[in-house]
Amino acid sequence: MYDYKKQVYIQNLSKHEGTVLTLKGWVANKRESKGLVFLNLRDGTGLCQCVVSTASVSAETFSTAASLGLESSLSLTGRVVKDERQLGGFELQVIDLMLISSCQDYPISNKEHGVEFLSDNRHLWLRSRRQWAIMRVRNQAIFAIHEYFQKEGFVQMDAPIFTGNACEGTTDLFETDFFGEPAYLSQSGQLYGEAMAMAMGRIYTFGPTFRSEKSKTRRHLAEFWMIEPEMAFFDIIDDMDLIEDFLRFVVNRVLEHCVKELEVLERNTDMLKNVNNIFPRLTYDEAVQIIKGQKEVNGRRSTDVLEEDLKLVQKRIAEIVEDNAKREAEMKAGGMKKGVIAFNQNMIDKQKQELKQLEEQERNIPQWLDSAQSFQYGGDFGGSDETVLTRLFDVPVMVYDWPHEVKAFYLKRNPDNPRFARGVDVLAPEGYGEIVGGGERETDEEKLKEKIIEHQLPMNEFEWYLDLRRFGSVPHSGFGLGLERLVSWVCKLPHVRETIPFPRMYGRLNP
Ligand code: 4AD
Ligand code: MG
Repeated sequence: MYDYKKQVYIQNLSKHEGTVLTLKGWVANKRESKGLVFLNLRDGTGLCQCVVSTASVSAETFSTAASLGLESSLSLTGRVVKDERQLGGFELQVIDLMLISSCQDYPISNKEHGVEFLSDNRHLWLRSRRQWAIMRVRNQAIFAIHEYFQKEGFVQMDAPIFTGNACEGTTDLFETDFFGEPAYLSQSGQLYGEAMAMAMGRIYTFGPTFRSEKSKTRRHLAEFWMIEPEMAFFDIIDDMDLIEDFLRFVVNRVLEHCVKELEVLERNTDMLKNVNNIFPRLTYDEAVQIIKGQKEVNGRRSTDVLEEDLKLVQKRIAEIVEDNAKREAEMKAGGMKKGVIAFNQNMIDKQKQELKQLEEQERNIPQWLDSAQSFQYGGDFGGSDETVLTRLFDVPVMVYDWPHEVKAFYLKRNPDNPRFARGVDVLAPEGYGEIVGGGERETDEEKLKEKIIEHQLPMNEFEWYLDLRRFGSVPHSGFGLGLERLVSWVCKLPHVRETIPFPRMYGRLNP
């Protein structure tokens, strides 16, 4: 066997119970008591408590262990002992320790840091437990996405990043210099995907896409990863069937394989399990009526539900404020054991975090109510409209048949009602909103040309695209899933910035 294959990782400790082996990793936490040092070792696959005792190591080794700062790297040799009380269920009783690199004053501690500080230290922040869990959910989602399309016979294709055309409108293009000619960073691989679908039948792209939106919302990145399948001979209904089946598969795979990760994130998985229910399909018209509180869903109006939400938020805020004040007073009074103080402080910090989010909701809900009631028919949905609509459902909702003016140039008109374009957006529940945008493509060359002109796009850049309608054109459809939006919802995160290793967004290029 190759030497590197002999390395044991914490996630596999159960196969090595009772044996003596060497783990390599970093100190994630350290605790000392008489004659003992407890090191929480992190190796990327998990955490393991390693006990260094004066009884089992030399005085020199013990003092090295006692002096270790957080994130010091080392290898530890010891016996693997089953211990249900420990993280991961095992403990390493150390007999030898080899320091690889000593670390002092690691900038990220267990106390609460602001998100700006953490973002500036993203290269280190990635090591923390929450980020570990998120990155592993992302990894699992990526794997499941490939698994789904591969098992369904789709061919993965790589669309170009440098492009001469604007797929999704000209307002948010990043322009670059391509050997003296202007080129854009791709907003979407779709148009190339359509060409490839005519060659392969069913394809999907999985690549980086770029939008220079100067928006600082919780769902916008300037660089994000998009999965774009494109299917020959699919109409909008087939498209929606596929989206539903696909999302259900991916979320179920994450539920199955990321139990520990979702636990670390304290994610309530019931909401995710709901993907096994049917996704409601609403026309734009129906969705607007629901947003405006003119149409009930299961006997409830959006406006009433939001008003109830507001009351609940305010009640919880009052509870937290009271509870934190009580704990602080008790701590001040003194006479508390060290452990109890630590427990209380932890609770206070946690509740303060929750309070921040609740206060944001308390500010937002009245605004959502306002904007929902004043929604102008014919417009695109804003983030708050999506939140209001999805609040009434506990599964992703599909909205189709949009006023053609608000959607991309390539969407097919509904033949029965040409006011509408056959686009579909999938909105995730729990306030997350759009995670997928897609639809059936226009096949009529003349109608496409009209749209290209209407959107003021350069016709010559689209000649090749029009060829697809001139030579063996067929009905076809596709969609785009934003990976970070999906992961953000699955993990229930406050912002997409945490779903990608090194986020690129308005105001953030480093590290
Ligand atoms: O709705 P969009 O703009 O659709 C397209 O690009 C189509 N060409 C897709 C297709 O039919 N092949 O983007 C698709 C998805 C959105 O639903 C959203 O999940 C994600 O991409 N997305 C973003 N994610 C993060 N930051 C941004 N700035 C995003 N813009 C879109
Ligand atoms: Mg969209």
